[in-house]
Amino acid sequence: MRVVIAGGHGKIALLLERLLAGRGDQAVGLVRNPAHVADVQRAGAEAVVSDLEAASAEDVALLLSGAGAVVFAAGAGPGSGVPRKDSVDRGASVLMAEAAERAAVRRFVQISSMGAGQPPRPGTDEVWAAYITAKTAAEDDLRARDLDWTILRPGGLTDAPATGRIRLAAPPVPRGSIPRADVAAVIAALLDQPGTRHQTLELTGGDTPVATAVRSIG
Ligand SMILES: NC(=O)c1ccc[n+]([C@@H]2O[C@H](COP(=O)([O-])OP(=O)(O)OC[C@H]3O[C@@H](n4cnc5c(N)ncnc54)[C@H](OP(=O)(O)O)[C@@H]3O)[C@@H](O)[C@H]2O)c1
Repeated sequence: MRVVIAGGHGKIALLLERLLAGRGDQAVGLVRNPAHVADVQRAGAEAVVSDLEAASAEDVALLLSGAGAVVFAAGAGPGSGVPRKDSVDRGASVLMAEAAERAAVRRFVQISSMGAGQPPRPGTDEVWAAYITAKTAAEDDLRARDLDWTILRPGGLTDAPATGRIRLAAPPVPRGSIPRADVAAVIAALLDQPGTRHQTLELTGGDTPVATAVRSIG
């Protein structure tokens, strides 16, 4: 299956590209910086340069031609301020979902975040509040679309090696952390499990093997 990954040079995205390439899927990483093309290719994926804060839904729909699934793995990142939380964490997700509808690519896995789905607590740092607000708006947009979406809300991300064991369930899951490598493995498994569509799932490290956890959802 051809899988287009928004934010193709992100840490989770690069891990996912390796997993998909390793099992014979065709991954395509959308990157905004041409200097990132070589890294994406080294991960076994095709790289396409597209700035998701500048592209139109029409442009992106063309890039989705022939795809079987879209993964939203982009994010404005830790160094960014309030405006880019909106333009990337909300805006780029809405753009990808709109493009997926136009291109009739039904399967869409969105990386959201634990904390989304509720208003930020009063007194929360303004950048964190903007992030959670943006993620919540991106989720709401996706749920309203005629797509086979799955929303995945990981807890705090680490760069530790994969453990292969997770806790994956409908909210609320107690707060916790999870290696990005395990998140990538969960996304690869979700793509294989269309019965997980129309579900919002929270994810932390846990005791259940990835394949078992994903199978038990859908
Ligand atoms: N950090 C946490 O603890 C945590 C917890 C839960 C969920 N999450 C979410 O998990 C997701 C993936 O995390 P990660 O650590 O893998 O992310 P990451 O390494 O920060 O990657 C995000 C990618 O998005 C790309 N991007 C930013 N703006 C873009 C644009 N305009 N057009 C195209 N691509 C753009 C970045 O490219 P550039 O390098 O060019 O900027 C980067 O490659 C994010 O949505 C994040 O919010 C994070």
